[in-house]
Amino acid sequence: MDLTLSRYHQARLDLVSGLKALAGYRLSPQIREKYATLAQEAPEHDVRDRAWMAGRIGPDPLYQASRGLQRITQELMWREVARGLEPRRAALEAELESPGPADAATLTLDDALEIPAYFAETEFHLQPGGLWRDKLTGPIYEIGVQHFNLHRFGKSGAEMGLALLQGLPEGFAPKRFLELGCGPGYKMYPILDAFPDAEAHGSDISAALLRYAYRRALDHGRKVHYAQMNAEKLTYADNQFDLVYDMILLHEVPVSATRNILPEAFRVLRSGGIYADLDLPAYRDLDPLTAFMMDWDTDNNGEPFWRDYHELDMKQEMQKAGFVDVEFRSVTSEALKKQGNYQGKWSYRVVVGRKP
Ligand SMILES: C[S@@+](CC[C@H](N)C(=O)[O-])C[C@H]1O[C@@H](n2cnc3c(N)ncnc32)[C@H](O)[C@@H]1O
Repeated sequence: MDLTLSRYHQARLDLVSGLKALAGYRLSPQIREKYATLAQEAPEHDVRDRAWMAGRIGPDPLYQASRGLQRITQELMWREVARGLEPRRAALEAELESPGPADAATLTLDDALEIPAYFAETEFHLQPGGLWRDKLTGPIYEIGVQHFNLHRFGKSGAEMGLALLQGLPEGFAPKRFLELGCGPGYKMYPILDAFPDAEAHGSDISAALLRYAYRRALDHGRKVHYAQMNAEKLTYADNQFDLVYDMILLHEVPVSATRNILPEAFRVLRSGGIYADLDLPAYRDLDPLTAFMMDWDTDNNGEPFWRDYHELDMKQEMQKAGFVDVEFRSVTSEALKKQGNYQGKWSYRVVVGRKP
């Protein structure tokens, strides 16, 4: 599926990326300088107190400009991607709906699946229609996310998969694995490359994203079995997989859903199997300003569950679901030899647990 945009639309998206880079690489260091003075002058205050920080950093014109740019560029980005694909909508939709050969990737959709309100009603990352209403959700998501991330992950979007692999125990080689909330599917490719003989499964709640994942897998010669399911209530039988993992799924669901998803992951794992959750680090593991800036997404970037996830005691949640040997691993962009962000590096947290 060719997602190349016309020069007209790509130039506009390049401008959007440039403005995002301006906010991230130029304005953020200046906000950090102001914050350093503030933290020195008021050491008795808890800089982890969001309300206190909002009162001090919030009115700063540079902070306002940075957040304003972030919001406006996010809205412009989705609009421009959608407009860029619109002239080819009919052809792209037809391509998404055409079946592939029988011995390749598979796709199982469930038209009767009940979609929870937290998913149906949220426009995640401000993507219009959320992650399911538009038949072109997948192509729009892939192009948008590349610009959202300032191409940090490259065109292949491999960084998260590579980070996840670094979080797994050394020498671990699953025969059958499952990605929960696999979305457009391409971040799984490094896992497929690392375990070429394994049977690969990906599930997601969004039919639109799965159609795209399937089409993309056919185009890239990837054999993955995609199935539409709510990760809170998987239809796989017990004890099926050696590895179940997710990449940035749990910050997109309420804690009540996480408390259903983890026991489901446990159930479908074989004894000795591994569960891994990859996401950005918990607030407490970030410096206070970064945590404060990141938290902005909760109320302003279509991420209503972001704060709760980043404050959740994942070790306790994993243990409650039955996992043992729960560990946190940090994987940085430096370790992956990738470009960092304005803090000089970009790190992921991989929470790993074993089913006894
Ligand atoms: C931020 S996206 C990440 C997608 C993919 N892992 C990636 O990194 O590109 C979160 C994904 O979780 C899916 N999702 C959200 N709630 C879900 C649920 N209850 N069950 C299954 N998938 C869900 C969304 O449709 C979306 O594809």
